[in-house]
Amino acid sequence: MKTEKRKILVTSALPYANGSIHLGHLVEYIQTDIWVRFQKLRGNECYYVCADDTHGTPIMLRAEQESITPEQLIERVQTEHLADFSGFNIDFDNYYSTHTPENRELSEGIYRNLREAGLIESRMTEHYYDPEKEMFLPDRYIKGECPKCHARDQYGDGCETCSATYHTTDLINPYSAVSGATPIRKETEHFFFKLSECIDFLRDWMKTGNHGQSPLPAESVNKLEEWFEAGLRDWEISRDAPYFGFEIPDAPGKYFYVWLDAPVGYMASFKKLCEREGLNFDDWWKSGSDTELIHFIGKDILSFHALFWPATLHYAGYRTPQKICVHGFLTVNGQKMSKSRGTFITARSYLDHIQPEYLRYYFAAKLNDRVEDIDLNLEDFVARVNSNLIGKYINIASRSAGFISKRFDGKLSAGLPDAELKLISNLQNEADNIASLYEQRQFSEAVKLIMALADTANEYINDTKPWELAKQEGQDQRLQELCSTNINLFRLLSLYLKPILPELIAQVEGFLNIEPLVWSDNQSLLLGHTINKYKHLAKRIENTQVEAMLEKNKADLAAHASTTEQSPTRHADQQASQHPPIADTISIDDFAKIDLRIARIVKAEHVEGADKLLQLTLDIDDADGNTRNVFAGIKSAYTPEQLEGKLTVMVANLAPRKMRFGLSEGMVLAAGPGGKDLWILSPDDGAQAGMKVK
Ligand code: 2FM
Ligand code: ZN
Repeated sequence: MKTEKRKILVTSALPYANGSIHLGHLVEYIQTDIWVRFQKLRGNECYYVCADDTHGTPIMLRAEQESITPEQLIERVQTEHLADFSGFNIDFDNYYSTHTPENRELSEGIYRNLREAGLIESRMTEHYYDPEKEMFLPDRYIKGECPKCHARDQYGDGCETCSATYHTTDLINPYSAVSGATPIRKETEHFFFKLSECIDFLRDWMKTGNHGQSPLPAESVNKLEEWFEAGLRDWEISRDAPYFGFEIPDAPGKYFYVWLDAPVGYMASFKKLCEREGLNFDDWWKSGSDTELIHFIGKDILSFHALFWPATLHYAGYRTPQKICVHGFLTVNGQKMSKSRGTFITARSYLDHIQPEYLRYYFAAKLNDRVEDIDLNLEDFVARVNSNLIGKYINIASRSAGFISKRFDGKLSAGLPDAELKLISNLQNEADNIASLYEQRQFSEAVKLIMALADTANEYINDTKPWELAKQEGQDQRLQELCSTNINLFRLLSLYLKPILPELIAQVEGFLNIEPLVWSDNQSLLLGHTINKYKHLAKRIENTQVEAMLEKNKADLAAHASTTEQSPTRHADQQASQHPPIADTISIDDFAKIDLRIARIVKAEHVEGADKLLQLTLDIDDADGNTRNVFAGIKSAYTPEQLEGKLTVMVANLAPRKMRFGLSEGMVLAAGPGGKDLWILSPDDGAQAGMKVK
C-alpha cells in the first residue's frame, strides 16, 4: 500500500535575542527536533524553522547598556544561539531572525489585512513614562515597595519576598529600573487588535481546529475555556518610540509590539527557506492549505499562540495551525532552576562538560504529550544514561563486534536459524508501536519500549554466551550466527533510537557500514554483509563531569549577574494585561512543609501609619499557650470589629518577618482579587479540623 507523504511545517518558539539558551529552552528544541527527525525518517516532507526573536525594549536597552547597536547585539546573540543549537544537534531547515525584510513585509501585510477587516482600532491609553529617560516603559521596568509586606525593590507583577501578586500601579514609591526616576502615568495613543470580536471564531477553532479535531491538548482547552469565561480583552499591538522593531505604516513614532511580529517570524523564516529550496510559500500558508502547521511551545506562551495568533492568521486571510504542542517547564533536582544554586544551566556550560546526546536521551525518557513539568534529576540522569544507554544498548554491539572482526573478517552470517529470526522479528514487529508513540509525542513510552527490547537482546546474549562458545572447537558457525543476530538486534534498536540520538546513530551506521537508516529499514536484515571494525561508540558519564559543569556554570552566572537580571515572570508586561501570571508549581514535598492551622482571631486592631494593614492576634491552640502576632493586608475588606472572635486559616510556620510596624509571625490566608473583594477563610467549625475551640 502506498501511503501519501505528509507535508508538515514545524516550529519551536523563537528565543529572545538578549539571553543565552539554557536547559529549560532545550526541552522544547529537543522535543521538536526528535519529532521532526522522526517525520523525516518516515519519509514525510517536513520542515523545521525557527528564528531569533529580536525586537522589544529589553533588547534595545541591553544594546544601549553594552554601547552597541541593537543590530550588533542581535547578530552576536544569533551566532551564540546557533552554536548552542548545533551543539545539541538541533537541525533546523532554516534559522532566521525577526529583524528581516521578509518579516517586515509579512507583518505589515497582516496589519493591513486586519485593518481592512475592521479589527484594528486606535485608543488613548495610560502607561508608565520615565521622565528622565523620556520613554514609555513596560511594567517590568518599574520597581518599588511591595504593598503587602513592604519589601523594597520588588517588580510590578509580584513580590519575591512574600509572593504576593498585584498590579504595578499598587507598588509603593515606584521607580524606573532604567534611570531610577519616579515614573509618571502618561496618556498615549495605541493600536488595538479587537480580539473581543474574535471569540466565536476562537471557540470554534479551539474545538474543531481546521480538520475537525482540537489543535490543543485537553489541559490547554480547559485554560482557554477559563479565559473565554472571563471575557477576552482587546490586544494592544503598538509601542511608542524609542523602540527596536518595525515602525507601523502610516503611524510615525509607533512600532509593532514585539509579540505582533514574533510569530510572523515563523512565516518569514519559512519564506526564506522557500526562496532557497524553490518551495511555494502560498501552498503552505494560504487559507485552506492542506499542509500541516505544527507549533511547539511552552505553557507560558499559550495565550499568544492559542488566542492572538490563530485569530490574527484567520482574519488576515491565512491558514491556522493544525496543532499546538504544549510542554511544561524544566525543574532541576525537583526545584525551579536557580541562579544561586547554579542550576540555571546554560547550553554552553552543559556542552563544555557533558555529551549533548545524553541530555537528548534523558529528556526523551521524560517527555510526553501532556503539559507537565519535567525534572532533570542530575543523579538519575547519570544513572539512567550509564545503565540504559551504555549498559543496555551500546553493550550489545561491544559484546559481539569483536568476534565478527577477529574471527570472521567483519562478515555477518549469510542466513540465520529460525529461533534467531523469530527473536529479531519480535523487535521488527514493534516498529509500528514505536512509530505511533513518536507520532503522538509519547517519547518516554517509546524509550521504555525500546529499552525493554534491549533487555530481551541482552537476555539472549547472556543465555547464549558467545564468549564461551568462542573458546570451543568447531563452534565457528554458531558463534558467527549468534554475533550476527546481536548485530541485527543492535541495528534495529539503533534505528528506533535514531530520532533521539542522531549523532551516535551516524557513528553506528559507519560501524555497520550501511547507508543512513530510514524507518522502512525495520523490515530488512543485515546478512552476508561486512561491517567495520568496532570502535568505542560512547562513554559513561562520570559524576565529576556533572560537578564540574555546575561549578563552571555557577561562576559564569555570577560573572554575568548584572546583565541577566530578569523579571520573575518572563512575560510579565504582556500577560498581566490579559491574564494573571501563572505561579510556578511546587512539589508535594514543598506543600507538605506548609503548616496550616485554624486560628481564632482574639484581637484585631488598626495599625498607625499603615493604609492596608490590620494587626491580628491569633490563637492557634499552641501547647505553650502563646498567641501569634500577624500583620495582614486586609483593611480594605474588613473592620477590626468584623474579625474579632472569627476563625481563619493561617500559615503557622512562615519564618517571622520584621516589618516597619513590628514582627509578623505568620500569614493569614485570603481569597479574592483584592480591595473590597477579599475574604479571609472562615471555617465554621474549627473542631472538625482538629482544633479545640476555646
Ligand atoms: O517566550 C519567548 O521566549 C518568546 N520569544 C517566544 C516567541 S514565539 C513566537 F511567537 F515568536
Ligand atoms: Zn511582599
